[in-house]
This record gives sequence, structure tokens and C-alpha cells, in this order.
Amino acid sequence: MKLNLTTTPTSSSYEIVVEKGALAKAGELIGIGGKSLILTDSGVPAQYSRTVADILGNSLIYTIPQGEENKNVSNWTAILSFLVEHGFTRTDRIIAVGGGVIGDLAGFVASTFMRGISFYNIPTTLLSQVDSSIGGKTAIDFCGVKNIVGAFYQPKMVIIDPLVLNTLSDRELHSGLVEAVKMAATFDEDLFTLIENSTCLSEDLERIITRSLELKRMVVEQDTTEKGLRKVLNFGHTVGHAIEAAAEGKYLHGEAVGMGMLYFCSDIVRGRIKNVLEKYALPVECEISREHLAEYIAHDKKASGSDITIIAVNQIGSFEMKSVNVKQVLGYEE
Ligand code: GLY
Repeated sequence: MKLNLTTTPTSSSYEIVVEKGALAKAGELIGIGGKSLILTDSGVPAQYSRTVADILGNSLIYTIPQGEENKNVSNWTAILSFLVEHGFTRTDRIIAVGGGVIGDLAGFVASTFMRGISFYNIPTTLLSQVDSSIGGKTAIDFCGVKNIVGAFYQPKMVIIDPLVLNTLSDRELHSGLVEAVKMAATFDEDLFTLIENSTCLSEDLERIITRSLELKRMVVEQDTTEKGLRKVLNFGHTVGHAIEAAAEGKYLHGEAVGMGMLYFCSDIVRGRIKNVLEKYALPVECEISREHLAEYIAHDKKASGSDITIIAVNQIGSFEMKSVNVKQVLGYEE
């Protein structure tokens, strides 16, 4: 299946290809020609980046260690130095083969090298396939704040091969599913029911990925640069990021976001989301106090200087946006 995403207000389009075996078609999809830097990490099976490098030819693979802490300034500058040392020019390209960390970092490198070179994204985790690989958000973490330095920079193409998910652990797969739960909870009760009632996730995955992408495309086409509607995609993330940071690596991103969603919903919705999280062996309660989480949220807010927009879900398939004071965000006052 192919989707086309058109950004706004500056109109540019790119294709999102969802197809079993698409990785092996990277040559015909991307096109041979030019030099490619393939960015990947040590947690991604090396065969994926090698496959892409072999098909495209004239490629160099750059591997960073796995983990969010590597989405940092040192790696950004190290990759830029590598591009300069190896004579990359504006007609060459950067290809991300990995999860959200790799996509964010590769996209940011592509946006800054020579004022922007071509960027292709081949997401290999469920989380990045259903969410972070499309929409053009690129970033690195800085001064202890996640994604504080970055750019909106759209890929030339996103290639999604559901077969690469076969090498993920159940934990990683289920963590990634949370981003699909987020799309379903805010926009599509049928998708939510599909995830809720699925008896064989691997059989339903392609439908889940495709529907999540259709929903995300609809949001990004209306509000590419997150002036309004796109904030809905942060459902569960304000508290989720705080849980992720406070727990210092104990939780995967999706696990933290799943728990974060439970803070802002009606009792009925909380019950349904909790059941889904439990069905996929995801945590539903964290040991970190509201006061402690509020400190992390305040730290992020101070650095970003933006108001806190909370997304609340009172009925599956719909949402409300509320602007709240940082001290009130978790019902905690200093
Ligand atoms: N992952 C949230 C967004 O793309 O806006």
C-alpha cells in the first residue's frame, strides 16, 4: 500500500510505502545514484542496513550505540564530521535504518548538513513505523531536555516493511503498539476495538500500521508544524516523557507513554486503555510520585518556554485539548 503525505502550509509531498519485503526493494524505491550514508544503531540487526547498502551500492554504514542517550550533540557532530571527511555533497543522501532515535538523529543531520540533503527513513520498530517516521519531526536531546534542538524536515520517502518487526522482542513490539493505541484512543474507536480484541497481533499488525499511518497523515496534513491539531499526538507524552526521564531507563518510550495516557481520561476510557496495556503485558502503574513527575514536567516547560497543552480522552475516538499551568498538571500544587 502507498500513501501520499502533503505538508502544509508549504506544500511538499512524499510517499509512504507499506509492504512486506519493501526493505529488499529499497533500490527501486529510492533509486540508485549518489552516495548514501546509512545510519543505524547496535540494537538493529546489521542485516537490515547491509541489505540496503548492498542494493544501493556506494554506501557507508554508520552505527551508533543503541539508546535514547545517544541522540545527542556528540553523535550529531561526529556524523557531520564523517560526512565532511568522506566528501558527501548536497546531491548525496542520508538513510535512517532503525527506530525513533535513529530517525530523529538522521533527519536532524540531514536537515543541517549543507543546509539540507535528501533524507529517507526505513523504520524498523513498530513505534517508528506507526508514528515517528512520518511527519518530519527531527531532533536531538540537549541540556537534559528531550527533543529540544531540532527541525521540521520531511523525508523524501518512508519505507515500511512489516517483516522487519519479526526480529523485535515482544516487549519492544508491545511498547511500539502504544503509539497505535494513542491514535485509536483519540481518533478511531474501530481501530481501538481491533487492538483490544486482537487474538493474533502479528496477523493484525499490517492493518494496525496502515490505519495508524492514515490517521497520522490526516493530522500532519492539517497541521505539519504543530500549531494546533498535531498536539493531539502528544496524548500520554507529557507525563510519559517525565516517567521515562525520572525512571532513568527502566521503561521503554511506549511503556512510559502508555502509563502517561492513564492520567488524562474518563474512568471508562482509563479502564479500557488499562485493559489493553495489561493484555500486552505493558506496565499500568509507575512507582514515581506525582510531585516528582511534576518536577520533570516543569523542567521541560522551563526549557521549552511553551504552555502545557494536555490532551484528555473522555470517550474513545475523541479528545479534548486543555491548557494548564505546570503546577496543576498532575493535580499537584507546590
Ligand atoms: N510523534 C508525535 C508527532 O509526530 O507529532
